[in-house]
Amino acid sequence: LITFLPENRRCEERIGDTLLDLALKSKIEVISVCGGLGACGKCKVRVVKGREFLSPISHKERSFLTIEDISSGYRLACQAKVLKKGEIEVEIPVTSRRGAYILQVEGIETPVTLSPSVKRICVKVKKPALKSVKSDHDLLLEALKTEARSISISCLRSLPVVLRNEKWEVSAILYKDEIIDVRSKKAKVLGFAVDLGSTKLAGYLLDLETGKTLGKTSRLNPQVRYGEDILTRITHIMKDKRKLSVLRALLLKAVNEMIRELVKAVNASTSDVYEVVAVGNTYMHHSFLGIDPSYLALSPYPPVVRKALTYDAKEVGLTINEGGKVYVLPNIAGFVGADCVAAILATEIYKLEKPCLMIDIGTNTEIVLNDGKGLFAVSTASGPAFEGAHIKFGVRAMIGAIESVAIRNCDVLYRTIGNGKPVGICGSGILDAISQMVEHSILDESGRLNENVCKELVKRDGGIKELILVDKDKTAINEDITISQKDIREIQKAKAAIATGIKVLLNNRGISSDDLEAVFIAGAFGTYLDPLSAIKIGMLPRVPLVKIHQVGNAAGTGARMCLLSDYMKRKAEDVAGKVNYIELAVEPYFQEIYLDSIKLKEYNI
Ligand code: FES
Repeated sequence: LITFLPENRRCEERIGDTLLDLALKSKIEVISVCGGLGACGKCKVRVVKGREFLSPISHKERSFLTIEDISSGYRLACQAKVLKKGEIEVEIPVTSRRGAYILQVEGIETPVTLSPSVKRICVKVKKPALKSVKSDHDLLLEALKTEARSISISCLRSLPVVLRNEKWEVSAILYKDEIIDVRSKKAKVLGFAVDLGSTKLAGYLLDLETGKTLGKTSRLNPQVRYGEDILTRITHIMKDKRKLSVLRALLLKAVNEMIRELVKAVNASTSDVYEVVAVGNTYMHHSFLGIDPSYLALSPYPPVVRKALTYDAKEVGLTINEGGKVYVLPNIAGFVGADCVAAILATEIYKLEKPCLMIDIGTNTEIVLNDGKGLFAVSTASGPAFEGAHIKFGVRAMIGAIESVAIRNCDVLYRTIGNGKPVGICGSGILDAISQMVEHSILDESGRLNENVCKELVKRDGGIKELILVDKDKTAINEDITISQKDIREIQKAKAAIATGIKVLLNNRGISSDDLEAVFIAGAFGTYLDPLSAIKIGMLPRVPLVKIHQVGNAAGTGARMCLLSDYMKRKAEDVAGKVNYIELAVEPYFQEIYLDSIKLKEYNI
């Protein structure tokens, strides 16, 4: 039997199970950035009892665990396998858990004129008479006096009973020109918008008659247990096609749970929800619909489908009203998906007459330029470093994560999320720390740590230089929280990928950074980063800070806009068709621009 601490949760182990498998089986979410490949080192757990029943420390584990770690019983949960049955006790440290993460659901509010695809018409239906017997359906159509051309089968099944129970005064719910439900006049008419992010899901329940957002919720995308970046998940699917339905089922379960949670909070039911509008990157889009995403990982990275899609919710696997629909926004390219289209709608960059940029920062960063004449997009693999992956003490936004850093006279001042005792450093904190280190010449332009400045802050671990941010007696993890030379390189690569995308786009269209009227930064990390730090380390171009707008979850806002407006759906389809996708890798000088962007210095174009 295996016991997980401190919860004391027990489960039966099988020979060959990894500690990660068993933790998941016990409903304990352990961080597994690389999906269990032994490549991220984030699934560290401590074996308190029964080490002898587990596989020996592997090569991969040795590259992430120190000698002290190993002697204290630390293992990588995805690598340690049960070899023999016995009493095993495993402690899961707070830094290896997903639970406490803060997920971003807020986004800018962009007003739309209410004209949803779902409409209610209240009617008084004539009763059938012996003189001229008409069908219930004909009588309903007569009362509706609409162009309604079809009626869903689920609606026909309930029609006779509803008409009679409601004494012939009913609400007919139409999806465009199809009657999808006939119900009591008091029934609610709701819709659900969802942003299917690679790492987090954000859902919104809306009243389709008032346009009000009734509730918001978010959760980690359960697919992260198969890797936090989408390429790892695609690799799982390529190796074993059955994983396609496993990953889809995990996603649908989470989306259905979000719908249930939100309707319950407003005393409604899932049958009051008539439409779901979904956005996500192209992989998430395909995964949601059960479409094989394997070819997204193979050059020339084609999506299976680009156009907007409408299906019956039942067919997709969502539990809403029997006649409910799912609308999925269009994709632009293999790595520029429907979430990017939604963010374009939310920021309204397609409307602006002067050049402007929209940057949605994530594991994959999408950058869209409106050069005043048209829309141009690139996608760049910025990687998960800003989300804490591949960073020694990197964590996502969670209580106790260091979110901002300032260095004054070789003293490190920091702020943590929720004022918690420091557990690690999240993306915005890392960016600040590096920018401050450059400003105080602790780092040079090439990213080399100079141990002669603020000597007292620099130490070495296994020959690698590190800057101590917080001494171990002040942290919640009993270790110094540091930024290592290796971490700095990871951030340099991530920020260079973003800067390269921006430079290539601007160069391609002959736009200078001074021409930019506005720069919109979307995404969770984009909400919290300090734009000045991002400019100083050369991630964003040098533009006046007043031109930078941090817009939060713009993809979620775009999804809500489409739920409330049929016109915005048409707009999404129109905009998606007009975006010119530029493949970064085939641009001349791509490599030179990237290498130059590694430098930690400001730039303008
Ligand atoms: S090293 Fe275990 S999940 Fe990445």
